[in-house]
Amino acid sequence: MSSCRLVIFGATGDLVRRLLLPALYNLAATGLLPERCALIGVAREQQSSEAFRQSLLDALREHLSGRFDLQVATRLLASARYVRGDIDYPGTYANLAAALTAMEEHRVASANRLFYLALPPMTFATVVNNLARFDLTTEREGTGWRRVIVEKPFGVSLDSAMALNRALADTLGERQLYRIDHYLGKASVQNIQTLRFGNGIFEPIWNREYIDHVQITVAETVTAERRGRFYDATGALRDMVPNHLFQILAAVTMEPPSHFDARSVHEAKAAVLGAVRPGGYGERSDALVRGQYTAGAIDGVNVNAYRDTPYVASSSATETYVALNLRVDTPRWSEVPFYLRTGKALKRHRAEVAITFKRSPPMMFSEQQAERLTANVLVLEIAPEEGVGLRLNAKSPNPLLDIGGVNMKFQFRDYFDAVRAVGYEKLIHDCMSGDSTLFQSAEMVEAGWRAVAPFTDGWVGSGAQGPYPYPAGSQGPAEADALLARDGRAWRPLAEEDIA
Ligand code: BG6
Repeated sequence: MSSCRLVIFGATGDLVRRLLLPALYNLAATGLLPERCALIGVAREQQSSEAFRQSLLDALREHLSGRFDLQVATRLLASARYVRGDIDYPGTYANLAAALTAMEEHRVASANRLFYLALPPMTFATVVNNLARFDLTTEREGTGWRRVIVEKPFGVSLDSAMALNRALADTLGERQLYRIDHYLGKASVQNIQTLRFGNGIFEPIWNREYIDHVQITVAETVTAERRGRFYDATGALRDMVPNHLFQILAAVTMEPPSHFDARSVHEAKAAVLGAVRPGGYGERSDALVRGQYTAGAIDGVNVNAYRDTPYVASSSATETYVALNLRVDTPRWSEVPFYLRTGKALKRHRAEVAITFKRSPPMMFSEQQAERLTANVLVLEIAPEEGVGLRLNAKSPNPLLDIGGVNMKFQFRDYFDAVRAVGYEKLIHDCMSGDSTLFQSAEMVEAGWRAVAPFTDGWVGSGAQGPYPYPAGSQGPAEADALLARDGRAWRPLAEEDIA
């Protein structure tokens, strides 16, 4: 891939400054960007290309801190241009077309084009239609490729996601469309597949015969403080579950694809997401708990209640925490509970998958020893550390036959060179190389929304079920503990010091 014009819509936004730009910088620093890669930013603000370049430089300085190298940044931004314009206004696309033509005339006749839509989902169809109207996305012999990346959330419900898929398909081929979920850019999430399918020891026990239950946690300490408007209309369930948590769930539960190519992986993931059902005993409270943080303290810092967040209604019923009890109705997973939880303003930042295996038969141990035997737990750590841990039972050196729980642990940073990554690098690189394996297909997105529909349609809106309050800095609402206690189980503690 020798050249690429990267057009970023929403170029002055937070996502671009915090994540996308540092990722482009990291790719440039490691020589993974095409030789001739030029940026064009599109946004509403009035500014010159010079001022745009300067603001990108400032953003890199701020977000890369110690790692900033002016030479790399200058090389990346040297030919960056800015096109001011409203996305509803056809003139914007005419100006963009002129800027692209000017760039291409000065370099090569044909150049690949990547359009990155760092915009809210309700604008995707407008932008893509206008790009097509101005002939910016048509692929012809000798013109190079044209691809479009869209950010999450992809729709806000099954119906809106289906409508969006249809609207985009009017003007773009599915292989031109890259639906991003930055969790798929995380090495530890990608590693789930490698761990499962690259090690002969796991697949034979990766099923209902050996696994008691699975917990997937994405706990955040961050609050909704700076995103009140978006968050209050969205909530934890829509913001995190059909996308990030389901990407993890799909990696854990998918059947082995025949090849690791985009089509086989997408089909395997869509199939397993299509088998997700609410768990429990038929009551809605068995399968879903919603929470909302009240005032509290995280690591000694006072935090306001969610309802005191700017742009959040003082009587808001939006959940900032959600816990789900699910089943994956496939022969491999039949009746195995999958407990998922995610929330903001919690005690610790922790994202992990914990796979608890069935206990070994205890009869050869004395009653006292048998009580000390714990279930084996395989923990796939995603954040803040990336690694894998296994909880085992071992004999302590104590002369009395005592049994204790021990941990085997591996951390990525101990084995592989620390890679400077924000998570978008691999995704952007893969898109430029035409590999959509780590992106979401239309079927995957729709299967994700279909699986949460029983929770979003009626249940959440009814107001009958919470959100239950939990103090900022806690582990979430007590009702979420009850969700597992009913099955005789408990969540893994969020804080390291509380984990046995
Ligand atoms: C985003 C959500 O997609 O992911 C945010 O909109 C959330 O609410 C973020 O904080 C979490 O991403 P990460 O990589 O920090 O775990």
